[in-house]
Amino acid sequence: MEFVKLLFKVSFVVLLISCKQESKTIKSDEIWLDNNGVHINAHGGGMLFYDGKYYWFGEHKIEGEKGNKAWVGVHCYSSKNLVDWKDEGIALEVITNNPEHEITEGCVLERPKVIYNSASKKFVMWFHLELKGQGYDAARSGVAVSDKVTGPFEFVKSFRPNAGRWPLNVKEIHKQPIADDVLEKYCGGKGCLPGHPDSVNILGRDFEGGQMARDQNLFVDDDGTAYHIYSSEENSTLHISKLTDDYLSDSGDFIRVFSDRYMEAPAIFKNKNKYFLIASDCTGWAPNAARMAWAPTIFGPWEELGNPCFGDESNLTFRSQSTYVLTVSGKENAFIYMGDRWNPENAIDGRYIWLPFQFSENGIPKLEWMDEWSLDYFD
Ligand code: GAL
Repeated sequence: MEFVKLLFKVSFVVLLISCKQESKTIKSDEIWLDNNGVHINAHGGGMLFYDGKYYWFGEHKIEGEKGNKAWVGVHCYSSKNLVDWKDEGIALEVITNNPEHEITEGCVLERPKVIYNSASKKFVMWFHLELKGQGYDAARSGVAVSDKVTGPFEFVKSFRPNAGRWPLNVKEIHKQPIADDVLEKYCGGKGCLPGHPDSVNILGRDFEGGQMARDQNLFVDDDGTAYHIYSSEENSTLHISKLTDDYLSDSGDFIRVFSDRYMEAPAIFKNKNKYFLIASDCTGWAPNAARMAWAPTIFGPWEELGNPCFGDESNLTFRSQSTYVLTVSGKENAFIYMGDRWNPENAIDGRYIWLPFQFSENGIPKLEWMDEWSLDYFD
């Protein structure tokens, strides 16, 4: 009898060990092959959890420096375990036969994010759009919709958000135009006065035409209200902007935050009724130190918590820039930092840096490099 018991115990342990070995690991910076054996091509991406699967949407890049522009569109992949990815094809295609189209091939179409509107049953994609041949001057938001999660998404419009609306926390100084000679002196007429506290008056300059929107993200709160977070005012200040109920437009309710902090690559998540934001500094494709902030409500007050990264290369966010924070379905306290390790010389070879957030006793999120980890980390 004792022998049978022992045998039972041993086989149980063996079973446990073999189950453990089966959980697949996430290895940042490596080549991540999809079901066709091709490196995943979804940069500056985001995730949507829908009907039991994760859908990853990101910029499809091509080889070389040319690959930093959009020649194909937004690529979609699906997975149940965040490790095995199925190629679902191009969810939003750039337009190849109409050079006048806002999303014509060769435009800049970055940081696409998709959310699901359960009332309209539509999948809604927002992205950062720069019109072809205009560098990064257009600073527009693009919107596309689809009835199916994997697309095809149809382009709806592009625009600068919140035209004709002042933010909820506007100050009187923002409404007063700065004299042309002052603008010229400080910033070649562009409307920014770096280093001068709260002096950016681009808000007023862009009041009528809408606010600049570059690096961007979406966040859907527990009550279904969606928010658009974007680098505005020549990248100097973030805006958090509530969307309309159909998620297709800005509602006109927005705030400006982290004024003059030049935050890019924003990503918001929520844990235990607190809102968290991770963002980067503003140094183009080159990595820099991330910033973490938290707030009791999405409209603030936001408080900066400093760099969440620890260890080697923490001052460079482990050579990556944030693109999304994934709330892992069905687990507690399970949030994944998703970042891009850009390769601007050969855009297609950008790598993905995914790390689990750890939380200190007082609930402050922290990131450490891990060569390899699995979702068991959260158990
Ligand atoms: C980064 C930004 C990227 C891309 C790049 C272009 O700062 O996060 O999405 O726009 O600049 O230089």
